[in-house]
Amino acid sequence: MQLVILLFAVVSFGISAKAVPLNVSVYYESLCPDSIKFITTQLYPTYQLIPSELNIQLVPFGNAKIANLSDGTLNLTCQHGPDECYGNEIQACAIFFDLKDSIDFVNCAMASDDPSGDTFLSQCANSSDMSWIRIKQCVDSGLGDDLFVQNGNLTPDFINYVPTIIFNGVYNDTLQEQGEKEFLKTVCVLLGQEPNCASYL
Ligand SMILES: *[C@@H]1O[C@H](CO)[C@@H](O)[C@H](O)[C@H]1NC(C)=O
Ligand SMILES: *[C@@H]1O[C@H](CO)[C@@H](O)[C@H](O)[C@H]1NC(C)=O
Ligand SMILES: *[C@@H]1O[C@H](CO)[C@@H](O)[C@H](O)[C@H]1NC(C)=O
Ligand SMILES: *[C@@H]1O[C@H](CO)[C@@H](O)[C@H](O)[C@H]1NC(C)=O
Ligand SMILES: *[C@@H]1O[C@H](CO)[C@@H](O)[C@H](O)[C@H]1NC(C)=O
Repeated sequence: MQLVILLFAVVSFGISAKAVPLNVSVYYESLCPDSIKFITTQLYPTYQLIPSELNIQLVPFGNAKIANLSDGTLNLTCQHGPDECYGNEIQACAIFFDLKDSIDFVNCAMASDDPSGDTFLSQCANSSDMSWIRIKQCVDSGLGDDLFVQNGNLTPDFINYVPTIIFNGVYNDTLQEQGEKEFLKTVCVLLGQEPNCASYL
């Protein structure tokens, strides 16, 4: 009997030690309705329930394009126009400065009436304990462009749907579909025996 319990403990420990935290990369765009819906109704509520079980990487770039112009500057184009590029850069700067608080900031921006509007973004910075002045300066100084290019490099070439969700570095169609619609349930199944997931397993 004792041996069985010990064995069970070893196996459980082995599973949870391997599975936690779950890496979740989200490739998205600031003005994309599907991205807004996923972040505000799936990702963020789940993160609030099980923050320490998730290692979230937010990559605001999606279907954007980068080209070099002959004058040495970059031509950044976004699926939903220049405002989206601005929104993406603001979020890229927030994520660069403070990964943890930026999850609140990104959710607040995406839940607002305009994720590229300074009025909403400055309020979101305040409510997320982030410095709006610093974020705005990051974009104005050109650091935002550098981060935009970095996010372009982080975005896998095969991505053409946003949001794309990748768990532990491996894209899987089934998990993409389930994760976009039922994120908490999907991550709980992937996590296995997490106490906060009890009702989903
Ligand atoms: C733009 O130019 C830089 C170097 O000047 C190069 O590293 C980069 O790959 C170029 N990007 C594109 C999209 O051609
Ligand atoms: C930038 O790229 C877009 C789309 O790729 C293109 O329509 C636009 O003319 C380019 N702008 C410049 C200044 O080359
Ligand atoms: C953000 O907070 C600062 C001080 O904490 C305040 O001066 C500023 O008006 C606030 N901005 C917004 C948009 O709420
Ligand atoms: C999870 O991400 C971290 C970096 O944040 C990396 O070191 C680790 O190898 C990743 N684990 C898996 C299973 O992808
Ligand atoms: C994708 O994930 C599902 C659910 O976990 C799994 O059954 C399936 O084997 C995975 N597909 C691939 C190609 O790994």
